[in-house]
Amino acid sequence: MQPAAKPTMSPSTAPAIVEIKGLRKSFGTNEVLKGIDLQVQAGEVIAIIGKNGSGKSTLLRCINGLEVFQSGSLTVDSKPLLHDNALAMRALRQRVGMIFQGFDLFPHLTVGKNVMLAPRLVKQQADDAGTAQAKKLLARVGLAEKFDAWPDQLSGGQ
Ligand SMILES: Nc1ncnc2c1ncn2[C@@H]1O[C@H](COP(=O)(O)OP(=O)(O)OP(=O)(O)O)[C@@H](O)[C@H]1O
Ligand SMILES: [Mg+2]
Repeated sequence: MQPAAKPTMSPSTAPAIVEIKGLRKSFGTNEVLKGIDLQVQAGEVIAIIGKNGSGKSTLLRCINGLEVFQSGSLTVDSKPLLHDNALAMRALRQRVGMIFQGFDLFPHLTVGKNVMLAPRLVKQQADDAGTAQAKKLLARVGLAEKFDAWPDQLSGGQ
């Protein structure tokens, strides 16, 4: 993935929620991220587009610390990633969500229970509050009726 041309966006004075400068990441001799610069403002919706194998997933995995990178800088909410600080990485991952390319829903849990799992385990969210929040979130993406469905009853897009 090559650095992209700078998009024309209205200038913002707020600090970016994600700020990436000169990010380089290689797997062995395969340099996948070749100096990426990216700024994402809070509330901004962006799409990262590129051919298969161009490094989109690798870039996202860098943002929540699943991959270490060789050079460049990356901050989330103005905090640099501290790979050797387990507490800092846990705090980061409590606030950075990611849907993996292979979906990775737990097949033995219903859709609703899958959505409720992370808040319950990580933030000790109570079941009734979790159920209400999960129903609200599913409704927001048009999946209200899938709360009790099983993952293998969903389409790929769902
Ligand atoms: N763990 C890994 N070890 C070695 N090489 C890897 C690893 N993960 C990814 N790669 C390589 O890095 C490159 C970028 O992969 P990545 O998964 O980021 O691409 P992508 O843009 O998400 O592709 P797709 O559109 O197929 O999802 C590919 O050449 C891939 O083979
Ligand atoms: Mg990918």
